[in-house]
Formats: sequence, C-alpha cells, structure tokens
Amino acid sequence: MDARAIIAALRRGEEPSPEELTWFAQGLADQSVSDAQAGAFAMAVCLNGLGDAARGALTLAMRDSGDVLAWDLDGPVLDKHSTGGVGDCVSLVLAPALAACGAYVPMISGRGLGHTGGTLDKLEAIPGVTTQVSEDRLAQITRTAGCAIVGATAQIAPADKRLYAIRDVTGTVESLDLITASILSKKLAASPDALVLDVKVGSGAFMKTMEEARALARSLSRTANAAGCKTSAVITSMDQPLAPALGNALEVAEVMKVLTGADKGPLLDISMVLGGVVLADAGLAADADEGAAKVAAAIVSGRAAERFGQMLAAMGAPLGFAEDWARYLPEAPVIREITAPKAGYLSAVDGEALGLAVVHLGGGRLVESDQVDPAVGISDLVPLGAKLAKGQPLARIHASREDKGEAAAQAVLDAVKISAKPPAVPELIRERI
Ligand code: URA
Repeated sequence: MDARAIIAALRRGEEPSPEELTWFAQGLADQSVSDAQAGAFAMAVCLNGLGDAARGALTLAMRDSGDVLAWDLDGPVLDKHSTGGVGDCVSLVLAPALAACGAYVPMISGRGLGHTGGTLDKLEAIPGVTTQVSEDRLAQITRTAGCAIVGATAQIAPADKRLYAIRDVTGTVESLDLITASILSKKLAASPDALVLDVKVGSGAFMKTMEEARALARSLSRTANAAGCKTSAVITSMDQPLAPALGNALEVAEVMKVLTGADKGPLLDISMVLGGVVLADAGLAADADEGAAKVAAAIVSGRAAERFGQMLAAMGAPLGFAEDWARYLPEAPVIREITAPKAGYLSAVDGEALGLAVVHLGGGRLVESDQVDPAVGISDLVPLGAKLAKGQPLARIHASREDKGEAAAQAVLDAVKISAKPPAVPELIRERI
C-alpha cells in the first residue's frame, strides 16, 4: 500500500478501505508513515470528513495499533470518559463507586489539556501516587481493588499518540472524526463491556453549544456501539465548575468529601446519573434509576471510599489516606479570599477563564515540560445563582506566591458576572443520547 494514494483518495472525498486504514495506523505506530504524510492525512480528514464506516474502521485500526487488554473477571468491565471540563473530578468518585457495585473499572485517563484539568494530575497530588504502571500492574490493581485509574502505556494506541501530537501542530485537532477515533482508540483498548460518555457543554467545556455537544456525543456513541461496546452518552452542563474547587489537591479534597458523605452536591448527582446509566447498560441494574440508587448506596455506605483507598494504596499512597486525607494533601503557602465587588446574584462564570487561571497558578502546564504544582488552585467558589452582599466571599485563591495569587484573583473577578436579577441556572443533566 501507499500512503500517498490513501491521502489522495481522502483529498478527493473518497473513503479508504478498512485495510488501508489499518495499514496507515500501523505506519503511524511504527514510523513508516512520515510526519508530513500524517499531517496531510489529518488535514484531508479534517476538511472532507469520514462516514460512519470509515470513522469506525479508523478507530479500530488505531486501537489495534497497540495492545488490547483482555479480561477474565467475575463482573463486567466498565468505563467512563469525559470530554473535559473544569472542576471535573467525577472519575475519582465514579470508578470506586462502580467497583463497589460489582464492576471492574480499568480507567485509562489523561493529563490536563488546555484549560481543563487532568485526572492523572489530580491523583498525583496525593503523595506517593504513581499513575504510570505496566499493563500487568493495571490488571492486578483492577482485579484486587476493582478499579485502577492510570495513564496509557506506550503500548496503548501508539498510532493515536503520534497522530495526536501531529494534529496539535497542524491545526487539525477540531475534527469530529479524528477526535472520535482518538478518544475511542484508547478507551476501547481497555476492552470495556460498557462505556458511558460525559459530554460536557458550556463555558468550561470544549463544546460551547448543544449542537456541537450533540454532534460529538452521537459520533462517539455510534462509533463505540458499532465497535461492540455498549455505550451511552449524557450531555452535562459545564457552565460552572462541577466541584466548588479547581486545582489538583483541592479537587481531591472535594472527592474525599463526597466519598466520606460530607458533601452531597453536583459531584454526587452527576456520579449517580453516569453510574446509573452504565450499570444499567452492563446489566448490573434494571434501569438507570436503579443504577443511580446503587451508586448512591455504594458511596453513602463507605464501600466506594474503601475501594478508592485500596486502589490508592496499590498505587503508592500512604496507608490510611482515605480515612485521614486532609493530613496528607499539600497546601499552598498563600491563601487569599476574593470578595464580591458589588451586591447581586452570581449570574455567569467563564469556566475556561477559571481553568486558565489555575493553569497560570501552576496547576496545569503552559509547556509540556512544566511541573504541575499540586497545591494551587481556586476553592470555595460560590455557585451560580448565589445571592451576594458586597464584600461577601466569592472564592479563595491558593497560590505559590503573592504576585501569582494577585493575578489569579483578578482573573477570577474578570471571569464572573454579578447581576441585579437572579439568572436561569442551566440544568446539570442536559440530554441523554
Ligand atoms: N481527547 C483525546 O484523547 N483526543 C482528542 O482528539 C481530543 C480529546
């Protein structure tokens, strides 16, 4: 086969065969396809798009460019994927909750991307935790704790690893086909029986409109179902951070509050909805409502926290972290309160701007080699619709230095809107696909 012929066919709007896509994905993985060819391929797909069949074939070809995990367990293998948001630490609640409901959850996760936080960076805010483990270790932790949240090894979907880096520098990230193949090649490599997709929409998400979110949700769920993985998508609001905190250790603290029953906010609600859907899809619940009740019971009873503790201990966390977490999480040296500059209702939050403020505090990366500061971020953010008196606390900044805290405080003030009238607060759960 010839990369030039495949690219030329795509340029003419024709679809390559599954065999051609398999050959191209292997070439990405083994470097026999050049960077120039990969860039031209990505641009042709970006401009002309793929049909369902070719998108599915590209997804499977990229999955099969590396290892595909095999399981022999006494319960279904489940997974969740979020398209990315701010204050989105649902995975850390949901994975152990599903494990406590009889499922196994080998969750291959990512790091922060753009303004959004990354699950691996959050986990690594816990002293001692390492998320880069071998496939054997992933299997062992999944078997014993019921869940393992880890980074992809070099053997998982290597074609995606290469193509993603090339898309990033060729203006070809924004293609539904390429995004779908990229996300699902990694998710399907873990061989889940059922998958739930949390497609975020709103100011803190990549998809700002319902139309964009629906298109992504449909593309992902159609492709994953066609690949034999029972998949549902839920479109959820990212018009404000899910947890009242953004930043790695600060979000772990929010997770621990939910898992220990101290908090019952949107993080719990969304975990119940997503968990309910995937438990029903996997046959562990009669329907999504019963599944949601099972997730809630797993959390309220402390069984989910127990699973989380087992998983963390296996990944290097201090023994007893789940019981005494506040003692272990790092704290920033500078903590300052931001207050409402005027009276009114919190009517809008620019989630992307808040996420970027956390990145600039050091909680994310501006260049690949940046070390993430686990302690920094924003906490105690009041929810949309809150009635505020002038001078009332709006949020807290956690910074490594005064000047960084100052800049973040200004960024937060610029990112919120206070109005005389109460706003219409969007529903957390927008649509199920
Ligand atoms: N996440 C991925 O893994 N790939 C994309 O293309 C976009 C988001």
